[in-house]
Amino acid sequence: SFLSKTLICASLALLGSQAAMADTLKIGTEGGYPPWSMVDAAGKVTGFDADVGAALCKELNSDCKFIVQAFDSLIPSLDAKRFDLIISGMSYTPERAKRVNFSIPYAVEDAIFVLPKNSDLVGADNEQAIFDGLAGKTIGVQGGTTHGAFLAKKAPKTTIKNYETLDQMQIDLDAGRLNGTFADLTSQSKFLHKVGEDNFALSKLVIKGSSDPETLGYGIAVGIHKDNAELKAKVDAALCKLIDDGTVKTASEKWFDI
Ligand code: ARG
Repeated sequence: SFLSKTLICASLALLGSQAAMADTLKIGTEGGYPPWSMVDAAGKVTGFDADVGAALCKELNSDCKFIVQAFDSLIPSLDAKRFDLIISGMSYTPERAKRVNFSIPYAVEDAIFVLPKNSDLVGADNEQAIFDGLAGKTIGVQGGTTHGAFLAKKAPKTTIKNYETLDQMQIDLDAGRLNGTFADLTSQSKFLHKVGEDNFALSKLVIKGSSDPETLGYGIAVGIHKDNAELKAKVDAALCKLIDDGTVKTASEKWFDI
């Protein structure tokens, strides 16, 4: 599902070729979202987004500096020019696109529930069954994500609890304060892999990333300040090349192979 369009890349490269780049590109990321964006013991940002960001900086002849902060605060900080780019598994949504320029997508992502193993929702095999079953239940999501917006729209009788970090959300799940959590498929799979399958299970139903573009968006993209059309052109050209030459695919195989 990655783009491979050499011609489009070439024309994007023409658009992006003017003007020198800043020496250092500052990249805002959340740092608590395995396998996309994590911070290791030494304080270094790792994960798929870190690899994509590093490759992007290299392509643009810049150094990379990652700035880690809450997911919910990334767009306001981009607005305030605290950094140049957001790379944080962020989906391109119409709502966000009012405030942010998005690059071409560099990944696609589905979403899934983690549920107590004995939940009647584990086996639900169509969206309506799961949305009906969610009525009256409390589901955790990360604040400011597409997942909260999707649930609020599709399962309005569900209580949605927003968490700043996945860690806090998972503590509440573990303590039985939630009937489940809803997040990106890859991060939920990582979680289940970590905690084991004795007490929790993934829902049988996978919510396709394309199932509701209004809330779930159009793929994962780099966020760029609205004013900076020039940087957007450069990022698009560079990403196109990195998708075309297999760099993005190699990184995704490295991080998403659970
Ligand atoms: N793809 C979802 C969104 O855009 C979730 C992203 C969460 N990313 C993170 N780094 N915490 O809302």
